[in-house]
Amino acid sequence: MSDTRLPAVDAAEARPAEAAAAAPQRPAHAVTLQPSGWRYDCAEGHTVLVGALRAGIRLPSSCRNGTCRTCMCRMLEGKVAYSIERPGLSPDEKAEGWILPCVAVAQSDLLLEVPNARALQFRPRPPGMLTGARRS
Ligand code: FES
Repeated sequence: MSDTRLPAVDAAEARPAEAAAAAPQRPAHAVTLQPSGWRYDCAEGHTVLVGALRAGIRLPSSCRNGTCRTCMCRMLEGKVAYSIERPGLSPDEKAEGWILPCVAVAQSDLLLEVPNARALQFRPRPPGMLTGARRS
């Protein structure tokens, strides 16, 4: 018969929730959109597209994996890195400042030209609509 007990944890290795909460937060980068002038903070490690969605801004997108180029926009200032090895941009396009926000991660504050940015519209959910498991 196998032993199903959990391994003992050294108290020094245990990390209280307060310590985790007090851990330093990585700084967010400010992203400013032109011509709207909208500005949002993009958390470290989030793509520019996800940061916009979290701020209630919809940028043009489709595949969200760096291949369709629907999200392609011009970076007027700043620096990005990519979450994939080969984003769908040519070296010339990169040199001209084009980026793919769906896979671009801000490395500094950014100024982007995104004329088709829109505010997300939230509709109230109809009463009684089920969205997942519920208790009976
Ligand atoms: S949404 Fe397809 S490349 Fe960005």
